[in-house]
Amino acid sequence: MTQPTFRSILTSTHVCPWWIGYTFDNPLRRIFQNPRQILAPYVKHSATVVDIGCGMGYYSIAMAKLVGKEGKVLSVDIQPQMLAILSRRARKNGVAERIETFQDMDIFAERPQSVDFCLTFWMLHEVPDKKAFLAKIFNVLKPDGKYLLVEPKIHTTVQQFGAQRQLCTEAGLNPIDSPKIGLSRTALFIKAIPNDR
Ligand SMILES: C[S@@+](CC[C@H](N)C(=O)[O-])C[C@H]1O[C@@H](n2cnc3c(N)ncnc32)[C@H](O)[C@@H]1O
Repeated sequence: MTQPTFRSILTSTHVCPWWIGYTFDNPLRRIFQNPRQILAPYVKHSATVVDIGCGMGYYSIAMAKLVGKEGKVLSVDIQPQMLAILSRRARKNGVAERIETFQDMDIFAERPQSVDFCLTFWMLHEVPDKKAFLAKIFNVLKPDGKYLLVEPKIHTTVQQFGAQRQLCTEAGLNPIDSPKIGLSRTALFIKAIPNDR
């Protein structure tokens, strides 16, 4: 049997193994991705926000600081090891009480229209059924809620990103911007049609 190489793991479309998280979730990442700068325009004080595919919490921790004591961050990852590391980091950063962790998105079915902002950072390419996944995001967002899709250029071609963007539109999410984020392709969506707001 052929053993996977480090590069094949990094570039495959399968779920990123938890220990690979350390290769991109480290202090050097701030040079090309400053979480506070990226998220401040969307994550407001006392908001409820979701970080799906949160990994070790590079963005969840920043979100927790931005929402403040009255806010809430719902962090979702299918790998319990990621959530354990995130919880440890949240305690170290003094924001553990603002972060709830979940291993799947089923909980959101019970909380329709409850979330102000949803982030998927470098994870949508790992999701096999993107249509069902995006329907859950649509369901949990408030009518004026926003969704930021960020995909790594190394995993997602221009065509693949175009297809993802199209699926978002078909799910009822309306593209309004494409913020610049290092090494990434991005699209910002709003649930409501801007003219209807
Ligand atoms: C490449 S990592 C990115 C982690 C984090 N967003 C970041 O930018 O540091 C992708 C993460 O998505 C998670 N993931 C993949 N499919 C998922 C799904 N369907 N639901 C929740 N998490 C998922 C993986 O376990 C992994 O932690």
